[in-house]
Amino acid sequence: MEKDYILNWLKENLTEERFEHTLGTAQCAKLLAEMFDENSQKAEFAGLLHDAAKCHPTDKLLEIIKEKLPEIPECELLNYKTYHAPVGAYIAQNEFNVQDEEIINAIKYHTLGRVNMTKFEMIIFIADKIEARTRDKANNDRIWAIIKEKGLKSAMFVLFSDTIKSLVQRKLPICPTTIDVYNSLIDFAP
Ligand SMILES: [Fe+2]
Ligand SMILES: [Fe+2]
Repeated sequence: MEKDYILNWLKENLTEERFEHTLGTAQCAKLLAEMFDENSQKAEFAGLLHDAAKCHPTDKLLEIIKEKLPEIPECELLNYKTYHAPVGAYIAQNEFNVQDEEIINAIKYHTLGRVNMTKFEMIIFIADKIEARTRDKANNDRIWAIIKEKGLKSAMFVLFSDTIKSLVQRKLPICPTTIDVYNSLIDFAP
């Protein structure tokens, strides 16, 4: 798949800010993959595609989920902001002909995560949260310090802990998957 084709498609289908965030995520994913001995080219590619569906209207996302992805459990549809992840994986497969399971799963699980995520999946998940182009610098520095000192799983624990706190503060529902991932990482609490 030509990188230029992907970049042009993203430019047409994402807002300017989301496009910037996408470039940042791809850059950060590449760097993390180099640090943690994963395929950096694949990580960059997954970073570029992770938010492919982010700017689709919610009703269109839901339509694709109902028609093409009926296996997604109801409890993972509590928050419309997570819909673009499984749909993005679907677009990667169907629009960009991505066959690589690791890339597809990294896109699919970049919002809610899942228990026992692979190193590659964690890299995309974390890169999405700490990319340097649009994310908050102070928070990025905090997470980078944890990555360097304690590793990817500790950073994941902190990100899930932050997510749960934020959902509680905003009185939003918490997907049981989020709690399961948090519990599974508890031994890595920094
Ligand atoms: Fe996303
Ligand atoms: Fe993102």
